[in-house]
Amino acid sequence: MPTTVLIGAQWGDEGKGKVTDHLSESADVVVRYQGGNNAGHTIVVGSERFALTLIPSGVLYPQVTPVIGNGCVIDPAVLVAEMAELESRGIDPTRLRISANAHLIMPYHRKLDAVMERFLGQQQIGTTKRGIGPAYMDKFSRHGIRVQDLFDPKIFRQKLEVNLKDKNKILTKVYNSLPMEVEPIAEEYLGYADNLIDHVTDTSLLLWQAQRDGKKIIFEGAQGTLLDIDHGTYPFVTSSNPTAGGATTGSGIGPKAIDGVIGVAKAYITRVGTGPFPTELHDETGERMVELGGEFGTVTGRRRRCGWLDLVALKYAVRVNGLTELAMTKLDILSHFDTLKVAVAYDSLGDRFDEFPRQQRVLYNCHPVYEELPGWNKDISEVRDYADLPKQAQQYIEFVEEAIEIPITMIGVGPARDATVLRAT
Ligand code: GDP
Ligand code: IMO
Ligand code: MG
Repeated sequence: MPTTVLIGAQWGDEGKGKVTDHLSESADVVVRYQGGNNAGHTIVVGSERFALTLIPSGVLYPQVTPVIGNGCVIDPAVLVAEMAELESRGIDPTRLRISANAHLIMPYHRKLDAVMERFLGQQQIGTTKRGIGPAYMDKFSRHGIRVQDLFDPKIFRQKLEVNLKDKNKILTKVYNSLPMEVEPIAEEYLGYADNLIDHVTDTSLLLWQAQRDGKKIIFEGAQGTLLDIDHGTYPFVTSSNPTAGGATTGSGIGPKAIDGVIGVAKAYITRVGTGPFPTELHDETGERMVELGGEFGTVTGRRRRCGWLDLVALKYAVRVNGLTELAMTKLDILSHFDTLKVAVAYDSLGDRFDEFPRQQRVLYNCHPVYEELPGWNKDISEVRDYADLPKQAQQYIEFVEEAIEIPITMIGVGPARDATVLRAT
């Protein structure tokens, strides 16, 4: 498939980085289209581990042009540090292309993220405090400062002054916080211009040309479907559109350019931060998933909440993204459980739900209806052929596949680059 969108089909951390890296071996361009350094995408190559936050996971392959699209929000300090880190590890970051229209995360966005969360108290979202929400707020209120503004110091200062007039009132009068000054911010940000200028371009045009030249393009989603601002468990979501539609607006390509949409889901499910989670386990089984799966956030180090695979949510992800296939990661973690449960419906407030509920109240009161499947109790981390998976593991895959009505084409059996079972369809 020449142009593929890859998205998280759960609440993020599904293993998108590993799957993107796998597909990038034969790719020409890999594009991030939304989010910022709230994302943490892990790739394991031999004894090396890369944790990327902004730069697309395809960067590890030298023939790939990594692109940060207009739909992303960029903290330039983080971006410059990530480029330097890659360079120090022998990966050439000069290929990176950045949209001139992407918005900047400013220091006041990070500060506002922190104080807004504090203000919410019990109702807090549990954000990554990277300034993501406030940066997108400014984008949509049309007060945002974009990457291209870094190259026009006069305009940059003007926009910063206008912003700080407003933000300082909010910081001091609403949140009882200290104001911020124009000059130190201007100096810091304009200082990034030299590092970035050679990378900044019209990325929509770049993608248009790449498509015309028959190049293979992968769009790498960050976060996941259930964290989508429109389709997720609002308000416990991020402030962008990780779902497949975001790939078009977040990069400047048309919907007809997309040939396929790959969802990535763990063989169970996790969530970082607050918000409803129907299959969450508060018992020893959940604890074991955390330990066995190493379920601690790549970005904030927070413990991820864990639960059994939720097919109601996964079917929803198939629908809202128009998934054409699924990559299922971390099947190896389920090797340690005698019996596996899979949620096939919810009971809530006296009704049964086969489809993902649209009302938050219903979602909060959900009790999953489980089907039980036998475990396999056998190490599968060395398996590379589907036929060599234990019968019960095949049964698990096929049970899910039948419910979601799309093929599971990739199965993760370990964090390493090659720990993948590919399945012909
Ligand atoms: P992303 O945000 O979707 O890219 O996922 P993260 O990198 O935040 O979290 C996924 C974690 O699972 C990382 O530590 C990966 O190295 C790891 N991982 C990915 N696929 C597999 C797999 O199939 N098996 C195991 N055991 N770990 C995996
Ligand atoms: P990747 O790309 C998991 C969660 C946060 C919080 C909510 C809003 O690695 O899958 P934000 O800082 O975006 O305003 O926080 O979204 N969140 C993620 N959870 N993986 C991520 O990214 C996430 N990015 C944000 O924990 O609940
Ligand atoms: Mg992650």
